[in-house]
Amino acid sequence: MKTLIVYGTRYGATAGTSEEIEKVLQGEGFDVKVVNAKEEKIKDIFPYDLIVVGSGIQMCKWTGESEDF
Ligand SMILES: Cc1cc2nc3c(=O)[nH]c(=O)nc-3n(C[C@H](O)[C@H](O)[C@H](O)COP(=O)(O)O)c2cc1C
Repeated sequence: MKTLIVYGTRYGATAGTSEEIEKVLQGEGFDVKVVNAKEEKIKDIFPYDLIVVGSGIQMCKWTGESEDF
């Protein structure tokens, strides 16, 4: 299953969490791409069967780039 994990992070924790999810899914045979939403803009979600979006939270708010995605 082609999988996209998009995350936003302020201090790095969500990057680590995304990498852990990537490892688990790869272990199950998923084809996984992990993207920091601040560094790469995803324009086309069509190729993916599964999309995971994550963000660190500050004062009840996601990062802007996760929210934008
Ligand atoms: C100033 C500050 C405000 C936070 N506010 C929230 C919040 O409102 N809700 C929440 O669930 N976590 C909150 N947290 C916890 C962070 O979301 C949590 O530490 C997260 O793992 C940070 O992710 P990041 O390192 O990817 O940015 C806050 C953390 C900080 C430092």
